[in-house]
Amino acid sequence: MGKGYYISKHLATAAMVLAAIALVTIIALSVVYNREKSKNAAKFSKATTLPVFPTPKTSNEPWDKYRLPDTLSPQYYNVTLWPRLVKNANGMYIFTGISGVMFTCEKKTDLILIHSNKLNLTVFKGHHAKLTGLSGVTAPAIKTTWFQSETQYLVIQLEGKLKPGKDYWLYTEFTGELADDLEGFYRSEYMENGEKKIIAITQMQATYARKAFPCFDEPGMKAVFHITLIHDRGTTNGMLWTGGQTIFGPTKRMSTYLIAFVVSDFTYIDVRIWARKKAIEDRQGDYALNITQPILEFFEKYYNTSYPLSKSDQIALPDFNSGAMENWGLVAYRETALLYDPRTSANGNKQRIVTVVSHELAHMWFGNLVTVKWWNDLWLNEGFASYVEYLGADYAEPTWNMKDQTILYDLQSAFAVDSLTSSHPLSRKEEEVNTPSEISEMFNTISYSKGAAVLKMLSEFLTEPVFAKGLSNYLKQFAFGSSVHSDLWEYLQKAVDQTPGIKLPYSVHEIMNRWILQMGFPVVTIDTRTGNVSQKHFLLEPEAVVDRKSEFNYEWFVPIKWMKKGQVQDQLWLLQKSAIHKPMKVSKNEWVLANLHVSGYFRVNYDLGNWERLLSQLESNHQVIPVVNRAQILDDAFNLARASIINITLALRTTKYLLHEREYIPWEAALRNLNYFFQLFDRSEVYGAMQAYLKKQVKPLFEYFGTISSNWTTVPSGHTDQFTQIIALSLACSTGVEGCRELTRSWFKKWMQNPPNNAIHPNLRSTVYCNAIAAGGAEEWNFGWQMFQKATVAAEAVKLRSALACTKVPWLLNRYLEYTMNPEKIRKQDATSTIGYIASNIIGQPLAWDFIRANWDYFFKLYGTGSFIFSGLIRDVTYRFCTPFELSQLKRFQKDNAETGFGSGTQALQQAIEKTTAKIKWLEGNKEPVLQWFLSESA
Ligand code: BES
Ligand code: ZN
Repeated sequence: MGKGYYISKHLATAAMVLAAIALVTIIALSVVYNREKSKNAAKFSKATTLPVFPTPKTSNEPWDKYRLPDTLSPQYYNVTLWPRLVKNANGMYIFTGISGVMFTCEKKTDLILIHSNKLNLTVFKGHHAKLTGLSGVTAPAIKTTWFQSETQYLVIQLEGKLKPGKDYWLYTEFTGELADDLEGFYRSEYMENGEKKIIAITQMQATYARKAFPCFDEPGMKAVFHITLIHDRGTTNGMLWTGGQTIFGPTKRMSTYLIAFVVSDFTYIDVRIWARKKAIEDRQGDYALNITQPILEFFEKYYNTSYPLSKSDQIALPDFNSGAMENWGLVAYRETALLYDPRTSANGNKQRIVTVVSHELAHMWFGNLVTVKWWNDLWLNEGFASYVEYLGADYAEPTWNMKDQTILYDLQSAFAVDSLTSSHPLSRKEEEVNTPSEISEMFNTISYSKGAAVLKMLSEFLTEPVFAKGLSNYLKQFAFGSSVHSDLWEYLQKAVDQTPGIKLPYSVHEIMNRWILQMGFPVVTIDTRTGNVSQKHFLLEPEAVVDRKSEFNYEWFVPIKWMKKGQVQDQLWLLQKSAIHKPMKVSKNEWVLANLHVSGYFRVNYDLGNWERLLSQLESNHQVIPVVNRAQILDDAFNLARASIINITLALRTTKYLLHEREYIPWEAALRNLNYFFQLFDRSEVYGAMQAYLKKQVKPLFEYFGTISSNWTTVPSGHTDQFTQIIALSLACSTGVEGCRELTRSWFKKWMQNPPNNAIHPNLRSTVYCNAIAAGGAEEWNFGWQMFQKATVAAEAVKLRSALACTKVPWLLNRYLEYTMNPEKIRKQDATSTIGYIASNIIGQPLAWDFIRANWDYFFKLYGTGSFIFSGLIRDVTYRFCTPFELSQLKRFQKDNAETGFGSGTQALQQAIEKTTAKIKWLEGNKEPVLQWFLSESA
């Protein structure tokens, strides 16, 4: 893209049939600014001249409520924004804007509430807005205007009433800061050819559109947007503008949170993947480009609806808070979620890209075309995309067995938090979710992973064609509008009713209510001696008291797919607490395996005899049991043992067959459970015996991969085999299998001797870097740091950034923690994950915990209460906690910061306390048998 160009052309491909107008597009901008950024001296909020009224605690005024009244509905916005990519005289980056919104009065009112946050509004005749009536209507005069900071409204009181059915035009002019805060309209910086580049970009979800221009900022308040951006082209001289403007055609009717625009000099490749010029030149966008078209095709077929827009842009941004954002027509990604460099990126990076792209493109229909009315139903939006992302990814990469991986990344991760009493139902009442921090707290594992697992179960018991049919009718019905979750149930039910041969014991609505209105999930116990099948709410802490009441008494309608000694049987429904299912009574040489292909969201326990028969089947010929069920047997057994439902030695015995296992999913499931053991025992005497046992178990796998990779010089061809190879290497090195550490150390050394030539295979780099830096000292660390700073591929930078946290040298770790507070060293988007990496290191954990405690106030202010990052941060730094002392520290932390609060981390803190309590109790009775078992098995 040459200097002085900007594009606003729309791309219509064959697949994107709708010829209408594009939402937003990129503005390519070539401006050369060399000035170094220094820290913003003045905080923008100080410049705000609007009077700020604190919220009286007891007030019941409309402006004290977080939800907009139903008196007005926006129809059309006309917004012009002008970002300045150079500092102004006060040393700040700002943008200016003008905005008009046409709204219809639905109910008589003399009050206008419109969201506006951190904007400095111009005053006309004493008021912060102008109001006119349309089509000959006279608007009442403005009485007074003010800014209500708590609820983020511009409040406009009128002298007279607005009339129902009439349209009005509200006009504002404003200035905002183009801060580096990753929210609303913000700025990102990066280096190119030794030069600092600045770009202006947006992130509106969930409540940041109001930071870019005044708007009715709720997902259900859909409108048409007409956006104009003023931007420089060619050179400019400080504030002197010699540029142009790009006018975007009116959008479809859409929600404010899905708007996006970008001002940059990025360049693109067709269907359009945008990124830094260097990244595109290096062909890092090619993979995303190759998979986008097939994924769009897949979803068009799956939803039976054509792509709703006339263009599709995707952009990789150097600074981005979440992994990716489904802005309609301009999807934004972190660089690691979109850019792939075959020379340096691992196959895991590739898999991340195909799943993230698939997830966001799934939202173009589910979420964007049809939007949930309010954030309480966010689980439906995110859970749905998290489920179908595997279907889209599977279509684009059919040999990768993507669908099987859902059990690792959704089902099992959801189980981990949904087995605590601090969990919550998927669906929240509309009144329960109001403030920005309550909204960001909805972006959690329950919404994403439990949502995905429960929807997958639904699709499986309806069968995919019926599910897809109902879905497509639902999308047609609510296109360009909004809906609630029961609307989807209704359309799925219609599809069931129209399909002969499908029988449900209850309606979709009744079945699903049990899964979405009560938290948790059941453990189904099958007694193969009698055929008795029963269910019980599964809790990690058996004696925990469940305060939350459920109208369904913690009973579910459970669809059970199963097999008997390798033969698939008819599906059963467990509809009561307990029932006899005759076919499940089996003879002494048969076994029952339930939750076949792990399609249901529940755990399974058996009578001891059946467990024994399953274990011997695993040891004699594990392949009779489907691969995902092998993973599930391991995960169920370990978790049943953690909940004291079965003996821990029974769970440990499920790992014995791993000597013969070569598949990724069971190994990954085993590794996660064993890692949990590592965390519990790596400071105790159990550690040595455990290491010895695992060393024995992983040795054949390590040798197997050594052989098939010609002594580690090639990688296996199968996609998931490449993952298993990484497991083999990392577990072999951490347990001290002969030859492993020498191997990784020598690879790293070679690289240090000749940095331009890194011969370590990209797949193995994370493991090799981590091992070498852990074994080394300052020299290795500093080398890693230099390579990190020089990295031009984001995926490579992440591998180094996480490996730097592996050092065992405390002062290096402490210095690294300090770096997370300096955005010149660690980007703000990466700060909390870096702290998390450090906390996963046994030496780093107490340092990270002290660091967080000492700086909680700072982080909280830096990220703002609405940020969703706190939950991950708290989870990571407390992950290893298992002693009474650590528990008391946690409680103390909770007390000490009660005033500042924990924002989106409130639940995570509750979960940490509960998990620690459960671990302490469990360790009391189990440490000794675990030690004895490992000793006897490693002898
Ligand atoms: N809508 C979200 C992005 C988001 C998350 C915005 C939290 C605001 C707050 C997007 O669709 C998403 O879910 N992104 C994921 C990646 C996905 C593959 C699970 C993310 O950002 O991690
Ligand atoms: Zn999403």
